[in-house]
Amino acid sequence: MKPVKLGIAGLGTVGSGVVNILQKNCADIERRLGRPVQIQQIAARRANPLCDTSAYAITQDVLAVARNPELDLVLELIGGVTTAKEFILTAIAHGKHVVTANKALLAEQGEELFKAAHQAGVILAFEAAVAGGIPIIKALREGLAANRIQALAGIINGTGNFILTEMEQGQRSFAEALKQAQQLGYAEADPTFDVEGIDAAHKLTLLAAIAFGMPIQFKRVFTEGISKITSVDIRNAAELGYRIKHLGIIRRSAKGIEMRVHPTLIAKEEMLAQVNGVMNAVMVQGDAVGSSLYYGAGAGSLPTASSVVADIIDIVRILENPQQHVPPLAFSETEEQALVTMDEVETAYYLRIEVHEKTGVLAHITKILSEHSISIEAIRQQAVHRQSGLVPIIILTQKVLEYEMNAAIAKIQALPETGAPVARIRLESF
Ligand code: HSE
Repeated sequence: MKPVKLGIAGLGTVGSGVVNILQKNCADIERRLGRPVQIQQIAARRANPLCDTSAYAITQDVLAVARNPELDLVLELIGGVTTAKEFILTAIAHGKHVVTANKALLAEQGEELFKAAHQAGVILAFEAAVAGGIPIIKALREGLAANRIQALAGIINGTGNFILTEMEQGQRSFAEALKQAQQLGYAEADPTFDVEGIDAAHKLTLLAAIAFGMPIQFKRVFTEGISKITSVDIRNAAELGYRIKHLGIIRRSAKGIEMRVHPTLIAKEEMLAQVNGVMNAVMVQGDAVGSSLYYGAGAGSLPTASSVVADIIDIVRILENPQQHVPPLAFSETEEQALVTMDEVETAYYLRIEVHEKTGVLAHITKILSEHSISIEAIRQQAVHRQSGLVPIIILTQKVLEYEMNAAIAKIQALPETGAPVARIRLESF
């Protein structure tokens, strides 16, 4: 059978994983497709010692791959935005199907790229862009296609989850844990993408588009990172029976669709609370299926390459049988949906308020909370902190509208007895 001819742009962590998988599993892949997949050309600045590319033509000119008339499909594994976008648009213009793992590019400029692919009649596949090796795009687009999706909550950044796990279980500082994640190759080139939630927001944007058939709207995701989470909060949460996880949440409510990424307290018994280290998990609630959980490696060479190769196989199958085409963004037409602003979101809260010991301070705080209809679920006063002389008061609240909580926190912060910035973390149950 005629081989499928493949071009690869980028030979970093993911690119080398793809080469390794295509070499190691070539017999099984050929049996699945009825055709072999043959790497024809690779664009890379230099060879990668993690894979053997001695048998392939290597160029430094990325666009030569995008234009190469011999190739059936190409992989964009360069990362970044500018060159990657030029590569994809050039490949599309040359009638090539494209597989990418580039969540930043798709989340920020996906509308333009998917439109270009659609107009050219080619496929732009991106399973590896979300949650590494977990086939969550396929699950939402195909396996759960019968459902009206009600909610989705995911740990979709391995680095962030690794850091929080190390802070809790390994009693490491934030900086130590981040350094370790970088050494293990999990972190983005710019680690602020991981710790400030931008990478998770990129992935959530794509999940929201597929789950709800709406436009790709990265700018509308409320994003809060984990860089302000302290070991103290992690310990307090644990004492109260919770764990802090950095979650991406999409929820359909009567007001519209919520899209948010933020640190979240969840009860230790919840399945998402058991997801540790670099692992990712996505919980999806559909009206027919109920809750289902997808768990696996969210980053790393082979897991991410596993999703890239699955996309290659899918595309070749579609080429063989075009009638079976599944819309890349799950719905044949996108539809605007009302989006809920963060002010209107309702969640429970963990608060840590550090005060100067003074008669009546607790009464002031509870009065402010009650003025904003905030009901207290649990309250604890801890021993005075030796260095600062401040007394931490830990409060768990029941669900409250975000704008009421913001107003209450502003008033508590302004009390003369409040001696440090109020720490607040949202609390959810799934
Ligand atoms: N930096 C990302 C993470 C890699 O830690 O999840 C995979 O997207």
